Amino acid sequence: MTSAHDDLRALVRTIPDFPKSGIKFRDITTLLLDPAGFARTIDALATTVEGPVDLVAAVEARGFAIGGALAVKLGAGLLLIRKDGKLPGATIAEDYALEYGTDRLAMHVDACAPGAKVLIVDDLLATGGTALAAARLIRRAGGELVGARFVIDLPELGGSEALSDAGIGVASLMN
Ligand code: PRP
Ligand code: ADE
Repeated sequence: MTSAHDDLRALVRTIPDFPKSGIKFRDITTLLLDPAGFARTIDALATTVEGPVDLVAAVEARGFAIGGALAVKLGAGLLLIRKDGKLPGATIAEDYALEYGTDRLAMHVDACAPGAKVLIVDDLLATGGTALAAARLIRRAGGELVGARFVIDLPELGGSEALSDAGIGVASLMN
C-alpha cells in the first residue's frame, strides 16, 4: 500500500526532537490542512475496510480528526476514546505506554452495545500501546473488534506486530 500514497506522504511534516529529544514527530496537521489530501486520506482508508462497521473507535486527539471523517464515510457511529478524566459519564479505563511516555485511556462504559462491530482508528501506530489499550476497552465493553486503521505506521516500533499478535487486523496508508 505504501508507494501508492506518496502524494499523501509528502503532506506529512517531520519535526525533530518533539515532544522529547530523539523523537522524529510525524505531524499530520499539514495533511489535514490540505482539503484534497484530507479527502484522499479518508477515501483510501475506507477502501481498506471490508464488511460492516457499527462504530469507529477514535483515539484522542489526532485520532478524532481521522476517525470522525472515516465514520461518516463508512456510515458508522463514532466512539470517542479519551485520555482519562475527560468523559462525563461512567467510564472504564486502561493504562498504557507509548513511544514517549505513559498515559491512561477511558471510554464510556455504555458506549458500545455487546456484539457491536468496532474499528479502531488513529493517525499513527508506533509501539501499539495506545491501540492495544483501546482494544482492551472495547473488548471489556463487549464489542467485537473488526480491525485497526492508521494513516501512518512506524514499523520499527513493532505496533503492527503487537496488534496482529492480539488478533487485530491492521492496515495503514504509509510507513
Ligand atoms: C500519538 C498518536 C497515537 C499514539 C501512537 O498520540 O496519535 O495515538 O501516539 O503511539 P503508540 O502506538 O506508541 O501508542 P499521543 O498520545 O501523542 O496523543 P495526541 O493524539 O493527543 O497528540
Ligand atoms: N506517536 C508516537 N510516536 C509518534 C511519532 N514519532 N510521531 C507522531 N506521533 C507519535
